[in-house]
Order: sequence, then C-alpha cells, then structure tokens
Amino acid sequence: MSELTEPVDIGGVSVPNRLYRAPVLECAGNGPDAVDTLVDELEPTAESGVGLVFQGASIVTDRGGCAAPNMTRVHDRSFVARLERLTDAVHDHGGRIFLQLAHGGLRSMATWHAGYRTRHPDQRQLAVSRPPWQLRLLDRAGLISLRPDVLTTEDVWGLAEQFGRCAGYAADAGYDGIHLSAANMSLIQQFLSPFYNRRDDEFADGVRFMEAIHDAVRDHAGSIPLVTKVPAETDAPKFVRRHLSRADGLDIAERVAEIGYDAVVPVEVSTFWDMSIVRGDFPDRAWDASDLQADYASVFGSRLRARAVELLNRWQARRFDHEPGWNAEFCRAVRERVDVPVLLEGGLRTRADCDRYLAADGDTPAADLVGMARPFYAEPRLGARLLAGEDALCESCNNCTIPQVTGEPGRCRTPSIVREQGRLAEAGAYERNRDEK
Ligand SMILES: Cc1cc2nc3c(=O)[nH]c(=O)nc-3n(C[C@H](O)[C@H](O)[C@H](O)COP(=O)(O)O)c2cc1C
Repeated sequence: MSELTEPVDIGGVSVPNRLYRAPVLECAGNGPDAVDTLVDELEPTAESGVGLVFQGASIVTDRGGCAAPNMTRVHDRSFVARLERLTDAVHDHGGRIFLQLAHGGLRSMATWHAGYRTRHPDQRQLAVSRPPWQLRLLDRAGLISLRPDVLTTEDVWGLAEQFGRCAGYAADAGYDGIHLSAANMSLIQQFLSPFYNRRDDEFADGVRFMEAIHDAVRDHAGSIPLVTKVPAETDAPKFVRRHLSRADGLDIAERVAEIGYDAVVPVEVSTFWDMSIVRGDFPDRAWDASDLQADYASVFGSRLRARAVELLNRWQARRFDHEPGWNAEFCRAVRERVDVPVLLEGGLRTRADCDRYLAADGDTPAADLVGMARPFYAEPRLGARLLAGEDALCESCNNCTIPQVTGEPGRCRTPSIVREQGRLAEAGAYERNRDEK
C-alpha cells in the first residue's frame, strides 16, 4: 500500500510523490510565445507540489500530425533546447517533467478540420494501412476528408527514428522522461489496433513499432525513463468487429514492459476519436457560446455540420458512463502482470479516490501513481489542495474541451467553478505544504 505523498521510482528517476498531471493540450504552438505559454501553464502545477507533470502530446514531425489546433512540434532541436527554461522551472519546485511524443496519423486536423484543410490543401495523413471502410464511408459522405499516405516499411523505421531523435532533444533540454501518446486514436494506437492495422510486413504487429521507438529512444536519449499509454478498445461501437480487447491490452502492457518501457498508463478507449477519453457531461454551455458559433461553422465546414457534431457529442455523453477511476479495473489487471509502475487516470476527482486506488483494495492496488487532467484546467495549482487532503472542483462538464477545436486555450468555462477557484486562491488554499497528509 502506498501513500499519495510517498516518493516513487520510474526508470531510475525519483518522483517526489504519486500525484501526476496527465497530458492535456497546452495550446502553446511554436510561435514566439510558446515557451512562455508552457511555463505559465505548467510551472504553477509543479509549484503546487504535483510530483510529475506530463506535458501534453507534442508532434514529432515538421508538418501534419496535429490532432488539434496550436499543438507544439518538437522536431526542431533549437526549439526544444529553449524548453530548458520550462524544465528548470519545474525542477526548481522539486517536480519532474516528462514530454509526451505524438503523431495523429488519421486523426490529424487534415482529416476533420475544414478550415485547416482550406489553409493546407496539399496535406495528407500518415496511415498505417488503407483506412477502414467506416472512415471511408464518412469520407464519401463528406463528413471527413481522407488523403492517406500509407507508410512503407522503410517509412515506419524512419518514423520510429524520428521519435528517438525528439527524445534525444528532450533529454538535452532537461526533461526527466518521455511519454508516448499511444491511445486516443493517435498513430501509435492505429498501429496497435486491428481496426486500423492490416499490414503484412513486420509492423503488422503494432508492438514491433513500439519496440522500434523504444530502441530509437535508447539510441538517442540513453536510459531516460520511457512511459506509454496502453489502450484497450473496449469502448469501440458494436459495428467495429476488430478491436483491442482487455486481454489484448494486457498482452501489450506485458510486452512493452518486457521490451524495457519503464511505466504504463492503461486506458480503455474506443477505436474512434470520441468521448471515451473524456467521459462526463454534454458540454451545452460550450456549444451554446454565442462568440464561438461562427468558429464552429468554419471548423466543421458549415453551421449544419457543426450541429451534426453537436448531436453526436450529445449522444456520446449518454453512451459513456462517467465513474471515477474508470480505468481502475484494467490498471489493476495490468499491475498483476507487470513489474513496472502502473499509472491510473480518468475521472479521479477526490483525495479519497486517489487514496483508494493507491491502497490495496482486496489484494492488488490499482496503481502506483494517480493522475488528473481536466481538473488542472480549472485549478492549475490543484496539487496543494489535493496533497492537503481536499478534492478537485472539476465536475467533468467538458465545457473546457469543445472550444479547443477553434484554437481556444484549455481553461475552465464554468462560472461557478471559476468563481470558487478565485475564492480559494484568495483564501490561500493553493499555498504549498499546507498540512500535507
Ligand atoms: C482537452 C484534452 C486534451 C487531452 N490531450 C491529451 C494528450 O495530449 N495526450 C494524452 O495522452 N491524453 C490526452 N488527454 C486525455 C487525458 O490525459 C486524460 O486521460 C483524460 O482527460 C481523463 O482524465 P480526467 O478525467 O482527469 O480529465 C486529453 C484530454 C483532454 C480533456
């Protein structure tokens, strides 16, 4: 049984406690303010005592691959070197920071964002195989746009090498570890998933791609800790016959731990980009925001299509149950099979949730570390309150999520919570080391 405030080792790096900020979009881009934006976004979290900060998905290529507006690219050594200011800031507060490396593949903006397609008419999507018929159908109906470039065997090796190169730049900039975006319909999930992967070369086994990335990271960044999400596509809709079961997810977790990954984050997701990763309420306030209507229309191609996406979002909010710690059972099963730390995230909101999943419930604790994502949009300094035994304000209303399709930053948009956060700040609730327990 572990306590939230106890240190933990990940791949030889000591993390001061078991609370982490899960990777979410910082919307910092690569412009002149990118480093300032990242420092403004992440330093307060480290300052509040969070032991491990995962910087959100950062793209390894110089073009394409962004799943959302204003993502940061890390293909350029000189840009990544400037992030030393961020890693120094986190270290000054005693925290650790890992960079998440990613590529969107078929989930890239060229697929779903009409305004982006107009601005980048030549852009294609990296694809593991010919896209599945379900996506081709959506393409024919004009709801998405597919122009896939199916990766050759040589391309896949080159891409793995690119992940390694970016990990090397990150190590040089002082990052304590690397996280791989291998869920949420990213390109790595597309390699792992039988829904997407119909290859007939050695990468027909998606774990081989993860092994190639692992080896490239070791070549370029030595023994830096390497963490990955591990998906089980248990929430795929019924018409998707070929998908990753929980047993497949367990097998992947076991194999990547054997390959040399230093920690795993098991998550139950879908084969599609849907609300399986951000379960909670339908964000009506965000969809109704009058200042965003024109932007939604330009993102999705027209007001009518934006309305269709809204209806889909409403249906999905009903489809996915929102229980705190929805990945706990999967994590516990993985933890019984691997001897590297297992990280749990998804719907945790209270200190009691954190304690419960770190404690032995029956025989095996669900996790070695516990993380939250959306709550940090509402309370960047949440660590201080959680470590003092209090609960997050976030109600998983998802009003923070939808506006991000237009390029809006990730922040809480629910007035009652914003007000309460202000009141708590005034009362000094975010001061660090208040009665840590
Ligand atoms: C706006 C947003 C962006 C996200 N971006 C990432 C990401 O970059 N990489 C990733 O692995 N997960 C990402 N996630 C998933 C979160 O890491 C987390 O698993 C999910 O939000 C559930 O945790 P929560 O209930 O505490 O928010 C994102 C989630 C949200 C809401």
